Amino acid sequence: MKSEGCFILGIESSCDDTSSAVLRDGILLSNVTASQAVHEAYGGVVPELASRAHQQNIVPVVDAALKQAGIEREQLSAIAFTRGPGLMGSLLVGVSFAKGLAASLGIPMIDVNHLHGHVLAHFIKEEQGAGGKVQENAMQESGKPLAPCSLPPVPQFPFLCLLVSGGNSQIILVKSYKEMEIIGQTIDDAAGEAIDKCSKVMGLGYPGGPIIDKLARQGNPDAFTFSKPNIPGYDYSFSGLKTSFLYKLRDWMKDDADFIEHHKEDLAASLEKTIVDILMKKLRLAAKDLKIKQVAVAGGVSANTGLRNAFHDYAKRYGWKVFIPRFSYTTDNAAMIAIAGYFKYLDKDFCPMSAPAYSRVAT
Ligand code: KG4
Repeated sequence: MKSEGCFILGIESSCDDTSSAVLRDGILLSNVTASQAVHEAYGGVVPELASRAHQQNIVPVVDAALKQAGIEREQLSAIAFTRGPGLMGSLLVGVSFAKGLAASLGIPMIDVNHLHGHVLAHFIKEEQGAGGKVQENAMQESGKPLAPCSLPPVPQFPFLCLLVSGGNSQIILVKSYKEMEIIGQTIDDAAGEAIDKCSKVMGLGYPGGPIIDKLARQGNPDAFTFSKPNIPGYDYSFSGLKTSFLYKLRDWMKDDADFIEHHKEDLAASLEKTIVDILMKKLRLAAKDLKIKQVAVAGGVSANTGLRNAFHDYAKRYGWKVFIPRFSYTTDNAAMIAIAGYFKYLDKDFCPMSAPAYSRVAT
């Protein structure tokens, strides 16, 4: 049963979220994600448990995405899937599922780089209710979502994108939907990883990002100072900050065993401020050097309130036009994989059945 329009099924399984989405002619019809609570007890993602959970979740998640989109799988035009980077055991579940489904339906497959997906989340357009109105996934500098029927601008090429997640901290020069150049990246830990580790040291839950964010709203960001890296160019480093946080806590706890409990809001606010300052300083340097004023943020850490506020502040101070994704598109999701796949579909840029998953990417 083939029907009018181009229907793309997106599949994401690179870490601990199993997600599936459906697009019709580039417009999002559904985006269903199953997260994995099993990792909370371990304070981090356990790869073996993640791939097992993907195995359990993938069929119901894809079924739900098709159902919500109101289509049958026979109507699909192509399947876009995350091929890498990510956890190999997790990726293999999504990649194998995509291959099996594409082969059974006789439709092309489109491989998507997970990091490109995060960047292209800024181009997701949603169908709003029965009226079929379309809203692009962007916010204006005010930070307020636009009315559902308006079409706000999407970033214009070339733009800079700060990609910050649990596994990556990169500044990407986005030249087109397909051409992206990493001009700066962390030489050790990612920003999200540093937040999660510091949160763990404080005895808070996992993932630490949302908890630190919440506590930081009630704390004084200038209460404590932690070490900041001195790295050349646009690269980042967060391992020194992590160590500084740990050592300072250890010293303070010698005098007050309950130091964390007594100061957790100020600790969270000061940690958040340090990380945001580090991220924004290099981003500002890159924007200045390259004379680019269109600046976007993506990845799980882009949900952070302090970072979002800093973007709005820089928009005012430096005349940037900033693009901040909706919360639902900050963390891993298949809508971003489907939109990245759609752009490749328009170019007939398909991938062979033999294409393997990859855990790391060179570019
Ligand atoms: O992009 P993502 O969902 O997964 C990958 O790492 O690929 O990012 C997860 C990261 C975690 O480190 C989490 O703690 C962080 O994003 N995060 C946040 C917030 N929400 C999630 N960090 C700071 N503030 C938040 N509100």
